[in-house]
Amino acid sequence: MAPNLLGFRIAHRMMRGDSRRLAAVTGALARGGQRADAARLRAIGEFATKHCAGIHHHHQAEDDVLWPVIVRSAGAEVDLSDLTDDHKALDPLLEEITAAAAELPGSPSAVRRMAASLATLADLLDEHIEEEERLLFPVIEKYVPEEEWERVETEVRKGGQASFDLPRIGQYALPEELAALRRMAGPVLTVMLALMGPGHRRRQKLIFGDL
Ligand SMILES: [Fe+2]
Repeated sequence: MAPNLLGFRIAHRMMRGDSRRLAAVTGALARGGQRADAARLRAIGEFATKHCAGIHHHHQAEDDVLWPVIVRSAGAEVDLSDLTDDHKALDPLLEEITAAAAELPGSPSAVRRMAASLATLADLLDEHIEEEERLLFPVIEKYVPEEEWERVETEVRKGGQASFDLPRIGQYALPEELAALRRMAGPVLTVMLALMGPGHRRRQKLIFGDL
């Protein structure tokens, strides 16, 4: 069996989607097109902080676990140096966003800095992830043994926060993808999504409003 890339595909979609939405909401606040009270700003700051930590962890796991697996299985087929450089270039941006997020709710300039950095992050991530999926997904499917891939996925999941990631997986998976995940994970996924769903939707409404 070839590796199943569905989990990575959805994780990438979440990273891109929430970067773009956070850039949109902080951009609207910075321009004065939307207003936010302290509770909303605090929620935006917390969400952005977890989002950046998740992206950093995903890239770290790629560097530390996935890249060696690819080099072992298909070393001659790919050059990972551009993708590694992208990870290095993204880290300071994630740190800037996290530092500005820690200044919320009290600092209007922090919102402006977040808006600018998040817009750059969203653009760079679009480019990076498109390149990564175009270059690596076919190679992984062709050369990486399924059990190696499962080990990679376990490592990637380890550093994540289930309470943050799971409801977003439910949000970003297409209906047929969610059905496939439910088949793989069993009833526990359905139960977890049902438990976490209402809180997640309330936080999303608070952070993003109608965006
Ligand atoms: Fe990457």
